[in-house]
Amino acid sequence: MRIDIITVLPELLKSPFEASILKRAIEKNLVEVHFHNLRDYSLGNYKQVDDYQFGGGAGMVLMVEPIDKCISKLKKEREYDDVIYMTPDGDTLNQGISNEVSLKKNLIILCGHYKGVDQRVRDLFITREISIGDYVLSGGELAAAVLCDSIIRLLPGVLNDETSALTDSFQDNLLAPPVYTRPSDYKGLKVPEILLSGDFPKIEKWREEQAMERTTKLRPDLLK
Ligand code: ADE
Repeated sequence: MRIDIITVLPELLKSPFEASILKRAIEKNLVEVHFHNLRDYSLGNYKQVDDYQFGGGAGMVLMVEPIDKCISKLKKEREYDDVIYMTPDGDTLNQGISNEVSLKKNLIILCGHYKGVDQRVRDLFITREISIGDYVLSGGELAAAVLCDSIIRLLPGVLNDETSALTDSFQDNLLAPPVYTRPSDYKGLKVPEILLSGDFPKIEKWREEQAMERTTKLRPDLLK
């Protein structure tokens, strides 16, 4: 998979890709992530990428021309499956969307800023709009990092234990069951006996029951 991220603040976005699982995925060549600073496609000497909105109102808007230049250049180099715009009015990200997007080969992710992008960017280039929740961030960068993390960890070979992503919360619309590690008794709080039994079919059944119980209690909406 290849991901091209277009942003006015690449420095805000880079560190999640420089640690842990995402770093390892990049080192293992399972994913390529490229950052494109929109200012490199700006107009004139002032490196302008945003302007006041027509009709008045607070807040700057990212201009269509630099974004057009950047996306058009990328599209000349390869075909993209999706051009995603991170925006609070997009589809709310969930595991189903992450699973779907993780199957794509080439993605462009555009991070909005200030009041967002000129509507014509959305009309012309964007194939999918994704929000990470009903709250407003200062820009799309942190949202893009969340999206990238959720899809990259699903790529084959990224997680050590291949089955691990399949047992995540939400993969079957259920929350994950509780997990324990050593010690088996901590200040009198004991690990459930069943997990120490070595009886794997029974353990599996217990985990399914726990997942169902947790979901019923905490997120009944997932069961509808
Ligand atoms: N940009 C600003 N807020 C956002 C959100 N909640 N999701 C995605 N992109 C955003």
